Amino acid sequence: MIGLFVFLLGCHWAWAIPSGYTKCKNIASDPRWPGPEDWARLNATVDGRLIATVPIAVDCHNPSYNHEQCQVLKDTWSFADSHVHAPAEFLAPYFQNQSCDPFTNQDRPCVLGNYAEYSINVSSIHHIQAGVQFARAKNIRLTIKNTGHDLLGKSTGRGALSLWTHHLNAIDFIEHYSGDDKYDGPAMRLGAGVLTSDAFEAAHEKGLRVVTGTCPNVGVTGGYTSGGGHGVFTSIYGLAADNVLEWEVVTADGDHIVATPKTHADLYWALSGGGAGTFAVVVSMVTRVYSDGPIGGASFMFDVETAGSIEAYWNAVTVFQSALGPAADAGAVVSYALTPTALSVYGIAVVDGSPSGIQGVLEQLTAAMASVKIPLNVTETAHPSFLDFFNHYFLQAVTLTPQAQITGGRLVPRSVMENISGAKTVTQAFRSASDAGFSIVCNALNANQSRLHQNAVLPAWRSALLHCIVVRTWDFSIPRTEMIAYQTTLTKVIMPQIEHATPSSGVYLNEANFEQPNWQTVFYGANYPRLKDIKNKWDPLGVFYAQTAVGSEVWAEDRNGRLCMI
Ligand SMILES: Cc1cc2nc3c(=O)[nH]c(=O)nc-3n(C[C@H](O)[C@H](O)[C@H](O)COP(=O)(O)OP(=O)(O)OC[C@H]3O[C@@H](n4cnc5c(N)ncnc54)[C@H](O)[C@@H]3O)c2cc1C
Ligand SMILES: *[C@@H]1O[C@H](CO)[C@@H](O)[C@H](O)[C@H]1NC(C)=O
Ligand SMILES: *[C@@H]1O[C@H](CO)[C@@H](O)[C@H](O)[C@H]1NC(C)=O
Ligand SMILES: *[C@@H]1O[C@H](CO)[C@@H](O)[C@H](O)[C@H]1NC(C)=O
Ligand SMILES: *[C@@H]1O[C@H](CO)[C@@H](O)[C@H](O)[C@H]1NC(C)=O
Ligand SMILES: *[C@@H]1O[C@H](CO)[C@@H](O)[C@H](O)[C@H]1NC(C)=O
Ligand SMILES: *[C@@H]1O[C@H](CO)[C@@H](O)[C@H](O)[C@H]1NC(C)=O
Repeated sequence: MIGLFVFLLGCHWAWAIPSGYTKCKNIASDPRWPGPEDWARLNATVDGRLIATVPIAVDCHNPSYNHEQCQVLKDTWSFADSHVHAPAEFLAPYFQNQSCDPFTNQDRPCVLGNYAEYSINVSSIHHIQAGVQFARAKNIRLTIKNTGHDLLGKSTGRGALSLWTHHLNAIDFIEHYSGDDKYDGPAMRLGAGVLTSDAFEAAHEKGLRVVTGTCPNVGVTGGYTSGGGHGVFTSIYGLAADNVLEWEVVTADGDHIVATPKTHADLYWALSGGGAGTFAVVVSMVTRVYSDGPIGGASFMFDVETAGSIEAYWNAVTVFQSALGPAADAGAVVSYALTPTALSVYGIAVVDGSPSGIQGVLEQLTAAMASVKIPLNVTETAHPSFLDFFNHYFLQAVTLTPQAQITGGRLVPRSVMENISGAKTVTQAFRSASDAGFSIVCNALNANQSRLHQNAVLPAWRSALLHCIVVRTWDFSIPRTEMIAYQTTLTKVIMPQIEHATPSSGVYLNEANFEQPNWQTVFYGANYPRLKDIKNKWDPLGVFYAQTAVGSEVWAEDRNGRLCMI
């Protein structure tokens, strides 16, 4: 009945629907889109920090074409850094949709497409409140952009007002955090815009460690921690979300509040693992920190040649992947990449490990590999601090690898890998993906570390041995249709095989395929109903929307890109 009503009225007739039931959010061509005087008033409210979007690649299109600047953009476009420091820019090429990129013809006009119309360069709580209230009052889409890394297009939206949190970058140390019954120790308050490298460098200065990921310019407080957040400390300190003591937020009503396990406990629970851009705008978080100290590192590789044949190589991959449990239980995270010809372990972090400790950690792995005649060629290193370890193992790799990509992901349960037939099925699925032109990048870890409080992290994380992503770097030199064909293959062929090999597991919502079917269960598991209740309580009108975020299934874009309630 309601469906028919909507169909007959269509979105242009949103005004005919009783107030409170406005079906579609306005886009720039709509009569109810705010006028220049409305924007000017908002601008005055936010201290002149309102920015009308001009995509950075405007330099690559007439009438603003500038050959040299366009060349620089071409060279850097695939790297997140060129999108982190500008408002409204984002990394995901599928959602960029060639509306203004450096690779299309200079005669083609630069248009906004999926880029936000306006951004507020946020530097205070008041700016966030003003943005939230404006978006609600004018019925327009609101997005939150921190670094723009999101692989599922969650940090952008057509016709949106964007809260750009990049400059909320304060870092404060708390010697004794006293707000938590279960914790008495040092903590760090990180503003919403703090970057990974800023956080771990500041911690390093104080002889401390903070739980972050391995990409220096990903945000810590924004999408990363709210989505879960893994890194080299996962097998010893748990996920980033497991370490949060409090969230300072602005709600959909524009209220400025602090959510802890005691106060607004439901919001604390949801924000810790239930995904960003959904429940509130985060202003800052307080997270536990740990004393820094020695870290052992190791790397090695084996390939088809070492194994003797293709079949022997893939058999060795199975043996390798099934033998990682003891290393993860000993506190190590093993990062490796898999191609049709080689398996490269590019970084093993053995926290607080000495070189002899590393041998202990790798003992069972070494023995398992010896049984299939693969001598592990381990290079070991010792580091006085996390920063030193990071610079040795990750800095170069993560800086030089292009980050624009097609992505899928899967958590592989330990129970599957400990069963030889299960482990073979997983390898077979990875082999198919790799033969189809995708790289497999995995972390072996144990994310079931003791934690102070319950949270909304996907339960599949706790029983996983591997978190793997299936990646293809976006090639801007070939027709977009070919990249879309890879995207379709990923969704229709590759990921279903991997899912089939890992039944009833799930996917890390931050490193996932935006086309994931049944994403509610796959990304959020048994937590979904409770998360949805919390969403409905704190944001009943859907001020916050992001693709695959909790509650987003009640919204869809119409053929003009308007976000409409369905
Ligand atoms: C190259 C690369 C490397 C990565 N490495 C890792 C890794 O090592 N470990 C790991 O766990 N993940 C990793 N990720 C995934 C990463 O965690 C997600 O992309 C994450 O969403 C990035 O968050 P952001 O705030 O930096 O990015 P954005 O794209 O700016 O934001 C991501 C999402 O968070 C929301 N958001 C941002 N700020 C706020 C805020 N203040 N309040 C509310 N919502 C907000 C946005 O609306 C959006 O939905 C990586 C991703 C890439 C592309
Ligand atoms: C907002 O005001 C500032 C300062 O007056 C101005 O520079 C800027 O262009 C304005 N933004 C918009 C979108 O008009
Ligand atoms: C890309 O833009 C075209 C119009 O140019 C539109 O039809 C299509 O839906 C857009 N795709 C995405 C993913 O936004
Ligand atoms: C955003 O604000 C910061 C100060 O908080 C300023 O340094 C920066 O230049 C501003 N950026 C833009 C694009 O307006
Ligand atoms: C072992 O690794 C070192 C350094 O990477 C390399 O020089 C050497 O050739 C490798 N040996 C074997 C047997 O693979
Ligand atoms: C091992 O995995 C296979 C599927 O690959 C399954 O049929 C079998 O029941 C599993 N065995 C055990 C003991 O779990
Ligand atoms: C996680 O750890 C808890 C507490 O040690 C334990 O009860 C639970 O069984 C573990 N879960 C998994 C999946 O290993």
